[in-house]
Parts: sequence; structure tokens; C-alpha cells
Amino acid sequence: MSLQNIFILGIESSCDDTAASVMHNGRILSNVVANQKIHEEYGGVVPELASRAHQQNIVPVVHQALKKANVSKEQLNAIAFTKGPGLMGSLLVGTSFAKSLAFGLNIPLIDVNHMQGHILAHFIDEEGYEKPPLPFMAMTISGGHTQIVRVDNYFDMTVIGETIDDAVGEAFDKSGKILGLGYPAGPEIDKRAKLGNPKAFKFTKPKVDGLNFSFSGLKTAILYFVQKETKTNSNFIEENLNDICASIQHTIIGILIDKLKQASKETGIMHIAIGGGVSANSGIRQALKDGEKKFGWTTYVPKFEFTTDNAAMIAIVGHLKYLEGDFAQQDVVASARLKI
Ligand code: KG4
Ligand code: ZN
Repeated sequence: MSLQNIFILGIESSCDDTAASVMHNGRILSNVVANQKIHEEYGGVVPELASRAHQQNIVPVVHQALKKANVSKEQLNAIAFTKGPGLMGSLLVGTSFAKSLAFGLNIPLIDVNHMQGHILAHFIDEEGYEKPPLPFMAMTISGGHTQIVRVDNYFDMTVIGETIDDAVGEAFDKSGKILGLGYPAGPEIDKRAKLGNPKAFKFTKPKVDGLNFSFSGLKTAILYFVQKETKTNSNFIEENLNDICASIQHTIIGILIDKLKQASKETGIMHIAIGGGVSANSGIRQALKDGEKKFGWTTYVPKFEFTTDNAAMIAIVGHLKYLEGDFAQQDVVASARLKI
């Protein structure tokens, strides 16, 4: 097996994005994502609609990824796919497709843990982006996950904190829903937060043991707050929207930064890498920058296209596993609750 010239096709279908990416020796040649707009009208991902859309998208998305990369199927060395965690119906589409393609081409199949993908996305070769040194701490924040992971090596990772209820992206999206904003609400809250006063309204931070998180209480607190205020002023939301958004965002960021502070104190690790859609948030980016000065952290934020759900992150894990000869068999099955 040649370790000189490795072409990996990555396939991701764990939630509501169908994605494929071609990687050559750790560099991305193409990174194609078909977003499923259908869920917007429901205010959240509808699993059955997601798996149907994956079935429609997967062939054209893979075709496009190969075409953009100018790589033929025959040049591929292995197929990497998301085994889990995620929605079972969605995972099944990517898993079955990857198995058939690898079987047809008679090349290795590599199963990838989606959460490891978010973390190892930091190791994609990309100009202008530094890779975190080992060991580091990774915080994965998205609509589906909220975790702090200690990374001692590529495949030696320990979850040291995670949400016990909602994910942080859900906290943004559900708060946005209460305020009448569209789905997903994170980007809109971020935009409005820049124009508002983060100290205008105070929401209590949850008390959760250790390095775990909880966001469902915050959502309820916001709901009761809005219900109470609109009783006396029916225009309360419209008149204060920017301040409400700024205050919600300020509270959420405070919760994340408090736990990171605690985690760096407990582990002594000062290198912090973030991933997941919420890492696009301008407030969290600023708070991490401030943490560099205040707490001596070095922080790493990947290129945006590698931080939301994508297949480049699956391809890099595939690449690293290929180097180790760590392959899956044809009887591998998708696993909705796969752990790190
Ligand atoms: O990683 P992602 O694209 O998909 C998964 O959920 O896995 O993350 C989407 C989440 C949504 O909850 C969305 O509201 C949130 O990321 N998000 C943001 C921002 N951009 C996306 N949240 C806060 N501020 C943003 N700028
Ligand atoms: Zn994800």
C-alpha cells in the first residue's frame, strides 16, 4: 500500500446535510454540502424528511465532489463515512452508499465517528490555519452537540464534559423561536446581539456539576421572562429585540467560557480548539480571543466550511485511519449513539 499519494472520499450524512469531500494527502480538493432547506418550515430537523432528502442528494453530491476535485473513482484509495452519532435514517443512507461504493471499487472502507471528525478537522492542511499541538482541549458546539474533549492523540480522546439536555445551538434556536425569529436562529441572534446591550437583561446561569452543561433551564427562563414582559407591554419583543438577543448571547457565552476556564484549570491544558456551527458566533470568537490575554490560552478556530457539518472532516479522519491501516468490514453498521 502506497502512503505517498492518498486520495480519500469522505461522506457525511448524520443529520440534515448531505456532504462529500475528496482529500489528497491531507489537503481538501473539494468539499460539497447540500443543505436541506425543507426543515426550515418546521423549526427543526424532521428525521424522516432528512433521510429522504439524503437519498435524493447523495449520488449528485458525490459526483460533484469528484468532479470538482478532478479525481476519478478509480483513483480513490478508500471511502470514509460517518458511522455515528446522528439520526439513524440519515446515517443509513451514507453508510449503505459508502459500503456499496467501496465494495464496487474493491478499496478499503473506513468508519468515522462524527464527533472525532469535528475535532480532527483542525488537522486538515489549510494555509493560514495552525494545527493545535497535542494534548489540547476541543469544545464542539453545534445544534446537535456540546462537548469538551481532552485530546491526547488523534484517537486517544476523552469526553470531560457534555450537555445533560439541550445542545448550545438548540439554546440559540429555541430562544429565537420564543422571540419569533426564523430557524436556525443562531446567526440572527448573533447579528442583533452586536447592536444590543448584553447587560440589559439578566438570565441566571445554571448550576451544573463538573464540566457538564445544561441549557434547557435557560430556554424556560427566557420563555417566562418574555411572557411576563409582554403581559404589560405587547410590543416588548419588538422594542427590545437587540438587547434581548445580546443578553441571551452574553449568558450562553458566559456558560461556555466558565466551563472552559474550569477545564483548563483542572487539566492544565491551555490549547483550546473549537468546532461546530456555533463556533461561527462572533461573541464566542471574541471571548476566546480575550481568554488568550486573560487566561493565557491559545485558541484555534477552523475555517468556517470545516466547522459546520461537512465531509472534509470525515475525509481527514479517513486519511489518518488509512495511515494506520484501520479499516472497517462490510458488516459494519451505523450507530446513532456512537460514543467517542
Ligand atoms: O454544526 P451545524 O451546522 O449543524 C449541527 O447542528 O450539527 O450547527 C448548526 C447550529 C444551529 O443551531 C445554528 O443556530 C448555530 O449552529 N449557529 C450559530 C451561528 N451560526 C450557526 N449560533 C450562534 N451564532 C452563530 N453565528
Ligand atoms: Zn456535527
